[in-house]
Amino acid sequence: MRDIPSSEITPEAVYLSRRAFLKSMGILTAGAGVLAACGPALVPTSTSDPSGEQPSAGATTDELGDPLNTYDEITHYNNYYEFSTDKQRVAELAEGYPTSPWEIQVGGLVHNPKTYSLDDLRKFEIEERIYRLRCVEAWSMVIPWLGFPLHKLLAEVEPKAEAKYVRFESVYDPERMPGIRQNPWYSWPYVEGLRLDEAMHELTILATGLYGKDLLPQNGAPVRLVVPWKYGFKSIKSIVKIDLVAEMPTSLWMAAAPNEYGFYANVNPEVDHPRWSQATERRIGELGRRPTLMFNGYEAEVAHLYAGMDLRVNF
Ligand code: MTE
Repeated sequence: MRDIPSSEITPEAVYLSRRAFLKSMGILTAGAGVLAACGPALVPTSTSDPSGEQPSAGATTDELGDPLNTYDEITHYNNYYEFSTDKQRVAELAEGYPTSPWEIQVGGLVHNPKTYSLDDLRKFEIEERIYRLRCVEAWSMVIPWLGFPLHKLLAEVEPKAEAKYVRFESVYDPERMPGIRQNPWYSWPYVEGLRLDEAMHELTILATGLYGKDLLPQNGAPVRLVVPWKYGFKSIKSIVKIDLVAEMPTSLWMAAAPNEYGFYANVNPEVDHPRWSQATERRIGELGRRPTLMFNGYEAEVAHLYAGMDLRVNF
């Protein structure tokens, strides 16, 4: 970016009960109160909070004790290049963007291709997941997402044996998305990819809300990916297409600058971006910088996915 300076719980976590593991990760199935707040998790909401109140989440910190960012911070400091490269203008430019009705086509190397409507997505059990989001630009936030594990959706479409990767595509709407017209050199639509085992990992979710409310357009409504151990650009917004594929997909960022943005994009304080250090980060709302954690603090859960790989080559 230019303006900076397996479906099973991992072996490491098997000693914990599933419940204790999920709790330790800040993952709590939404309780009755939260469910009530997020029951219609995909119903369109107004883009501003008329009460002006800070909505509440199931906890006030992540599993490391770091406080949640405020709703205002999370909804007014955004990367969504289809609207603008100015993080503070995305919210106003995306206001009112129509996100209902919506469809996600899921196909490619699957036995049961399916087109998901918002009603279909509402059938998945919505959980709250408090995750750190670490942008490749070296800023970060702690966000209480609502969503469900991607592996639940993938299980429904039944990937074929030849499927090795998952390719995701965002909505492409140049008429209503001024950033697409202003930045024609990018290979729109925004595309991202994961290896199938990364996509099947328990921590990988499709998010439909945050802070107990539906997602706003600036955060990728009505449904976006969240992969907490990878740089934020992997967490693709406003998804319209998911394909199971045999070859590694080329993401928009790989096409734009392959020496700067690799396919894996795992958060790694020891592998710098060619133009800046990744050793520390600026937590939005805090003064000073804090050390960046390997795999964004999710090393115990995901390091085994990369056993034997040279993370400097596979960056
Ligand atoms: N998805 C799309 N379609 N377009 C984008 O520009 N930006 C990415 C990611 N997903 C982006 C995207 C980047 S760089 C980051 S850091 C996160 O979204 C930011 O998510 P947030 O604005 O909800 O914090």
